Amino acid sequence: MRTVLVTGGAGFIGANFILQARGAQWYNVVNLDKLTYASNLQNLTALENEPGYCFIRGDIGDPQLVSHLLQQYQPDAVINFAAESHVDRSILNPLTFALTNVTGTLQLLEACRAYWQKLPLHKQERFRFLQVSTDEVYGSLSITDSPFCEDNPYAPNSPYAASKAGADHFVRAYYHTYGLPTLITNCSNNYGPRQFPEKLIPLTILNAMEGQLLPIYGDGQNIRDWLYVSDHCEALHLVLQQGKVGETYCIGGQNEQTNLMVVEKICTILDELLPSKPNFSHSSLITFVKDRPGHDRRYAIDCTKMNRELGWKPTESFDTGLLKTVQWYINHPQWVEQIRTGAYQSWIEQNYTDRTVNYL
Ligand code: NAD
Ligand code: DAU
Repeated sequence: MRTVLVTGGAGFIGANFILQARGAQWYNVVNLDKLTYASNLQNLTALENEPGYCFIRGDIGDPQLVSHLLQQYQPDAVINFAAESHVDRSILNPLTFALTNVTGTLQLLEACRAYWQKLPLHKQERFRFLQVSTDEVYGSLSITDSPFCEDNPYAPNSPYAASKAGADHFVRAYYHTYGLPTLITNCSNNYGPRQFPEKLIPLTILNAMEGQLLPIYGDGQNIRDWLYVSDHCEALHLVLQQGKVGETYCIGGQNEQTNLMVVEKICTILDELLPSKPNFSHSSLITFVKDRPGHDRRYAIDCTKMNRELGWKPTESFDTGLLKTVQWYINHPQWVEQIRTGAYQSWIEQNYTDRTVNYL
């Protein structure tokens, strides 16, 4: 595999994936990203003048642009990370989620189908469309339920989860109806460097560093299965290389934690790394707030299939992954400052009116 079109590559997981893919020379990358509030191209400055990487600002829902890029770069695969990804925002503005996550993915699939159908047979067989999806499509588990696996029926509860479920259904339909060689991954909560600080872990780290309150929804006993982002990226690479077309792969951290446990662990790390006043613990900032509407109680993933068929399992322990994550935010105050002040948004408006900044 030589060239991959990555969509949403300026976001959290996409940027980590591209850095890993270029670092290990997995493939050349064409990065298509709309540069929404959640993106940060500074994640990728190290690659700016590197051959084998290029960036295009644009929307997965722009069929002319996507068709043009497919013709120009002739990728062997497309990995679709592009999405509106935050559950709380989906509750406030579900239509935006339907537009990018459902319609955008459908437009992307349609452009890929047209491109793929014109490829010579040997290239058609090699082509892959990988949809990066979420465990949230499966709904909520009770404490006694078995973890989600590939056979679970879809039962999305939030507008975000519903929009990702809709996208997954279209991906599946393109395989069954047109034979497009698709793959779907459903992954649990990621954490690590470069995550936008609206999500629980970076929000907690940054608020605690600034002495602000640490909001915990409801009783703090909701459970998530946390996976370090580089383990997710490794899993995606394996699925792309060796996954069976038309199939789904569940990816998880084998690491269930209540939200309260996660926040307390972050506070303990910060108490050690950034001791402030005597007898002060960052955990004193914890504040229980009104619950998220429709808040799923528990997610957990059974990743037996990934292990059995592709030999994958998570490698980073939660303790070391969380420590590295906290250290990354402490060591990147400028990254945080730019997001918080809105300087990043004005910088991209000035610099990225021109779409392509670097060519393969
Ligand atoms: P993110 O919000 O950090 O990044 C999303 C990126 O997509 C941003 O760079 C944004 O600019 C881009 N984008 C949004 N709309 C676009 C459009 N219409 N066209 C082109 N680009 C667009 O998200 P993330 O956390 O990195 O998640 C990436 C993918 O992985 C998403 O599809 C998400 O559903 C999925 N996922 C995330 C997690 C998680 O824990 N974060 C877990 C499982 C699956
Ligand atoms: O499960 C995978 C999903 O994980 C991804 O598909 C989503 O894109 C990603 O955003 C994430 O969704 P969550 O809703 O689980 O992540 P979030 O960080 O928003 O919240 C994690 C848990 O923490 C959740 O139970 C809500 C709770 N929470 C969140 C915030 C932001 C709080 O208690 N307080 C907060 O301030």
